[in-house]
Amino acid sequence: MKEFIQAPLPFQGQKRNFLKQFKECLNEFKDKTTFIDLFGGSGLLAHTIKQQRPDARVIFNDYDWFVTRLKNIPTTNKLLAEIRNECVGLKGRGKEAVTDGSRRKIIDIITKYEQQSYVDYITLSASLMFSGKYATNYEDFIKEKFYNKVKMSDYNADGYLEGVEVEHLDYKLLFSLYKHLPNVCFVLDPPYLSTDCTSYKSSWRLKDYLDVLLTLQGTSYFYFTSNKTSIVELCQWLAMHPNLENPLRDAQLREVTVSVNKDSKYRDMMFYRNRQI
Ligand SMILES: C[S@@+](CC[C@H](N)C(=O)[O-])C[C@H]1O[C@@H](n2cnc3c(N)ncnc32)[C@H](O)[C@@H]1O
Repeated sequence: MKEFIQAPLPFQGQKRNFLKQFKECLNEFKDKTTFIDLFGGSGLLAHTIKQQRPDARVIFNDYDWFVTRLKNIPTTNKLLAEIRNECVGLKGRGKEAVTDGSRRKIIDIITKYEQQSYVDYITLSASLMFSGKYATNYEDFIKEKFYNKVKMSDYNADGYLEGVEVEHLDYKLLFSLYKHLPNVCFVLDPPYLSTDCTSYKSSWRLKDYLDVLLTLQGTSYFYFTSNKTSIVELCQWLAMHPNLENPLRDAQLREVTVSVNKDSKYRDMMFYRNRQI
C-alpha cells in the first residue's frame, strides 16, 4: 500500500506536520485494537494508523464528506487540465493575479462543470486563490481574484482509504457508540478555537470546544490542540479548583449592545448577584 505523507487533496488543518511524531507515539498503543478518528477531516490520521497497524480496526469519521471529493478526483483532474491550458503563458505564477481575459475564460470553464458535473471548490481554491483563501461555492468563488497556482500533475488517491471504515456522524454520536468498547483509542483533532474554519461545514463556539473535553474522561486518546486556544491553561486551572461551582450561578444579566462600525456589533454584559448571608 502506498503511504501518503499528506492528504491526497488540499485540506485545511490536515495533520501532515505531525505525522512523524504521531507514528512514533502510536507504538505505545500496541494493546489497542480499534482506533476511531472522530474528527477525521481529510482522513490522513486514519490512513496513517492503518499503514502502521494493518491488524487494527480503523474508523474514519468523515463529517465533511471528503470521500465525495476523493471519488470525484477524475473530474477535478479534467477541470484543472482545462484551466492549466488556459493559464499557459501567464506570468508571475502564484504571485500576480491572472489577467481579466483569462479570468473570464476560467470562470466559463468552472460554470460548465458547475452546471454539468462536479466542482471541488476547496481544491479549486488551492489552485486559483491567494494562499490560505477558500471559497466553498460557485457564488463566492467567482467573486475572488485568481492566481495561477494549478498543480502541474494530476491528483491521485489510489489505495488511500483501503481497509479503513468510513462513517459520517456527529462525533458525539460516534463516541457514544464506541466508548464502552474494550481496547479502543480515540483520535480527537477538533476545529481549533480562534482559527479559520471556512472550508469546514461547522462553526464552533467555546462550548462546543469544551464539550470535546468530555470525551477525554477515562478514555485512551490522541488529542490535538494549539497554544492559540488557551485550552491547556484552562484545564490546568480547573484541576487547581476541583470543587468550583459555576461562578455565575444565580446571577442576573444585563446587556448593552456596542456598535464598532456599521457591520460589527458586540454585547457588553453585566452579571450581578446579591447573595443573602
Ligand atoms: C482540524 S480538522 C481535522 C483534520 C484531520 N485530523 C486531518 O489530518 O485532516 C477538524 C474536522 O472536524 C470536523 N467537524 C466539525 N464538527 C464536527 C462534528 N460535530 N463531528 C465530527 N466532525 C466535526 C471539521 O469539519 C473538520 O473536518
